[in-house]
Amino acid sequence: MKLTCIRCHKQQEQLYAPFCSDCGGLINPVYDMTSVTLKHSDNPYVRYSDLLPVNDSSLLPNDAIFTPVVHATRLGKLLGVPNLYLKNETVLNTGTTKYRMAAVSLAFLYENGVKHFCTSSTGNSSTAYAQLISNIPELNLSLFTAADFRYRVHFEPTDQINHFILKDATFSEAFEVAGLYAKNNGFTPERGFFNPGRREGLKLAYLEAVDQIPNPIDWYVQGVSSAMGVYGSFSGAKELLQLGHIPYLPHLLCCQQDSCAPMVKAWEEDSEIIEARHIVKKPQGIAMAILRGDPSKVYPYMRGIVKESAGNFARASEEKIRKARKLVFEEEGIDICYSAATAVAGVMIAANAKKIPASDTVLVNLTGRDQPVDAVVHGQWLKKINGQWLPQPTNSPRSSGSHHFANQ
Ligand SMILES: Cc1ncc(COP(=O)(O)O)c(C=O)c1O
Ligand SMILES: [Zn+2]
Repeated sequence: MKLTCIRCHKQQEQLYAPFCSDCGGLINPVYDMTSVTLKHSDNPYVRYSDLLPVNDSSLLPNDAIFTPVVHATRLGKLLGVPNLYLKNETVLNTGTTKYRMAAVSLAFLYENGVKHFCTSSTGNSSTAYAQLISNIPELNLSLFTAADFRYRVHFEPTDQINHFILKDATFSEAFEVAGLYAKNNGFTPERGFFNPGRREGLKLAYLEAVDQIPNPIDWYVQGVSSAMGVYGSFSGAKELLQLGHIPYLPHLLCCQQDSCAPMVKAWEEDSEIIEARHIVKKPQGIAMAILRGDPSKVYPYMRGIVKESAGNFARASEEKIRKARKLVFEEEGIDICYSAATAVAGVMIAANAKKIPASDTVLVNLTGRDQPVDAVVHGQWLKKINGQWLPQPTNSPRSSGSHHFANQ
C-alpha cells in the first residue's frame, strides 16, 4: 500500500500527511492490485486485509464477523424497489458503523507514528474511538464534544482519554478547537474525513455487502455528515472492479435531513463549492449524527465522486425520516437511529421521483441505532470567555492538567 495524492499521484513521504506536499490534494491509499487476494475468512478484517492500510493484522479485531444483510422484500415493495438490501450495522459493538472506522483508524494512526491525537464528533465516532483505544495502549486521545452532543458519547474513563465538553459550541466549532488544541500541545489533529484510516475502515460495510448480495449493487445509499463512509465505499468499489470481483461501480446516493443539508443544497444549485448561503450555522434536527452544518472542505471531493458515479444527493423532511424509521422497524424488525433512517427516506424520495429504476439493486447502509442515554457524562467542561476556551469547575475526577487551550 502506498499513500498517494489523488490529484498528482505523488507518493507521500511524510507519515500521516492529510494533504499532498506538492499540490494540496487528498491522500488516498493505493494498493498493488497484482498482489491483492480476498482471503477465505468470516472476519472482514482478514478477508479484506490486503485492501486495508494496516500492516500488522494483530492490531485489528480478531473476533469480528460480517454484519447481516437482509433482502427487505416487504419494505422494498412499499418503496417501489423490490431489490432493496439493508446492511445492518447496528449490531456492531458500539452500535454503529463507526466501530469499523475506529478499528482501522487506530491501527493506521499507530503504524504511522501517532502517539496522541485530538478529534471531535457528533457522538458515534468518539464513542467508537474511546471504546476501542484500549486495544492500542500506546495511543492517547483528547476528545472534544459540543455540549449538545455530550449524551451521545459513551465510554468508561481511562488514562488514555481526556474528554472536553464545550459549552454552547456547535459540532463544527468543537472540531476546530480539537485541531487548535493539537497544534498548541504538539499532538496530532485527527482530521476526520482527511484521515485515510477512517475512510478505509468505513468501506468494509460495502465490501461485505458485495459478497452477501447475489446481484451486482446498482446503488450505495447512506446518510451523510462529511460522507467519509461513501467516499471509502467508492474507493473500495473501484478496487473490487480492478480485481474483477464486481462488474461495475455503484451509483452513490448521499442523504441529509433537510434542516441541515448543505451538500444537497450546493448540489441542487450545481455549485462546485459550498457557498456561505449553504452553511447551516446552528444545525437542528432529529438526525443528530449527521448535523454537520459546514462541509466546505469535503464537498468538492464528494461532488466529484457522486458525479463520476452518476449518482445523486437527496434531502428528506423530519416527517419522512420518522416514517422511514417506523417502516424499517415494522416491516423488517430493525430498530435504527434517525441518521440511518435518513438514507431509507432518501431511497423513498428518489424511487418516487423515478431517479432509481424499480429493477435496480439498492444497498442501504443502516449505519447505526440509538444509544442508551448515560446519566453521567465524564469530561472537563470548557467555556468560551473572551475568545478563549477555559476550564470550568467540574465534578469529574479528571482534570485538564497543564494543557494549553485553543485560542479562538
Ligand atoms: C449513525 C451514523 N450514520 C451516518 C453517519 C454519517 O457518516 P459519514 O461520517 O460517513 O458522513 C454517522 C456519522 O457520525 C453516523 O454516526
Ligand atoms: Zn498532489
